[in-house]
Amino acid sequence: MRVVVATGNAGKVREIAEALSELGWQLEGLNGLTLPEETGTTYEENAALKACAAALAKGLPALADDSGLEVAALDGQPGVYSARFGNRPNDTERNLYLLEKMRGVQDRRAKFVSVVMLAYPDGHVETYRGELTGTLLEGPRGENGFGYDPLFVPDGETRTLAEMTVAEKRTISHRGRALAALLATHRNGPPPRETVRTE
Ligand code: IMP
Repeated sequence: MRVVVATGNAGKVREIAEALSELGWQLEGLNGLTLPEETGTTYEENAALKACAAALAKGLPALADDSGLEVAALDGQPGVYSARFGNRPNDTERNLYLLEKMRGVQDRRAKFVSVVMLAYPDGHVETYRGELTGTLLEGPRGENGFGYDPLFVPDGETRTLAEMTVAEKRTISHRGRALAALLATHRNGPPPRETVRTE
């Protein structure tokens, strides 16, 4: 099956391609297609905006991930706004901004959330959700991954997500969990309609 991966985020593309390799899908990029602005207030809304726009434009099933980091001491911020936190232009600047906001804060609990949506050109969608709880460090560690990975140590681990390989991150991460549910659902071919999995 040809499937468009509706994201411009290279880190997400890597993780999605690795997690779904077993399905043998032919994953295609956006090839110049511009995705709509992420105007939703939930991960589900934004994932639907991206996946449905790509599926309609390309006439193929399209896969999108909308995700974010929810920090307990910041009342769940940045959440769906993680990619534009503090209006900072890149991952390094956003990590510095988060560290500034968390300076001196004792409660360092945080949670990653991923909603993966597979949309078909006829409007049908499948939704998969995954979460990962952990704590935030006071400085970055590790070179792998993307986004807030260098600041985030998953519960039960000593390394940050940026100190893990893509394969290691996949086995525990929010996106890895959502994609594992998608994989399980599609392993034996397209599932019956009305499939919604939540992990
Ligand atoms: P989106 O493209 O609107 O879904 O933005 C997701 C943003 O959340 C990313 O730009 C990162 O800042 C953050 N994020 C989501 N997933 C991860 C992850 O696996 N590691 C680190 N940061 C992530």
